[in-house]
Amino acid sequence: MKITVLTLFPEMFAALDESIVGRARKSGKFSLEIKNLRDYTEDRHLKCDDYPFGGGAGMVMMAQPVGSAVEALDPMHRARRIYLSPKGKTLTQERVISLSEEEELLLLCGHYEGVDQRAIDLFMDEELSIGDYVLTGGELPAMVLVDCVSRYLDGVLSPESLVQESFSDNLLEYPQYTRPVEYRGLRVPEVLRSGNHAEIDRWRREQAEALTKKMRPDLLK
Ligand SMILES: C[S@@+](CC[C@H](N)C(=O)[O-])C[C@H]1O[C@@H](n2cnc3c(N)ncnc32)[C@H](O)[C@@H]1O
Repeated sequence: MKITVLTLFPEMFAALDESIVGRARKSGKFSLEIKNLRDYTEDRHLKCDDYPFGGGAGMVMMAQPVGSAVEALDPMHRARRIYLSPKGKTLTQERVISLSEEEELLLLCGHYEGVDQRAIDLFMDEELSIGDYVLTGGELPAMVLVDCVSRYLDGVLSPESLVQESFSDNLLEYPQYTRPVEYRGLRVPEVLRSGNHAEIDRWRREQAEALTKKMRPDLLK
């Protein structure tokens, strides 16, 4: 998969050089290109934002740098183009899995008061939100999307890591334990040390159902 990100703050994406995502990029499991929108502005002072028509607080990102960047980087419209936005549909695990099947993604990060609506109408395929709250920019949401989509790309994680995790089967994951057997008076449930895999599976399923009922009953509907 090829992922292209359009942003005014490319340095923020250094976080994706680390850990599992960083290793996956380095070993060529997917490619990530971070493009600075300022490289596409026609403004001689490299401006990419301006005051909102109609008044109001803040600045709005101009359509021209976005349009020029999209046309230069995705001329044949091969990529699924996504504007990260609090107004978009909320990103779910189901959508993450379907996005991981795309060949190319192009992610647009807004900043300030957002992006001129014409850039969204003309150049984006959809808007996705990472939750019902407002961040200062789309960079963290884009990183969230890259991280969770990359987990589903071939060879990034072992296939076992992707089954029975939170949101598969509409359940949250069962509790996990590691050594030591006892910590501050709390012991690892005996069943997990029994070696009886049928019993362990049953315990995990029961725990997952109970936890989901308690924490996220909406998932069970
Ligand atoms: C301060 S926000 C703009 C909010 C906008 N004025 C509104 O009220 O809907 C700046 C940028 O952050 C990004 N952003 C903020 N919250 C987000 C969220 N929950 N999900 C995805 N992107 C978000 C978007 O790219 C947005 O253009």
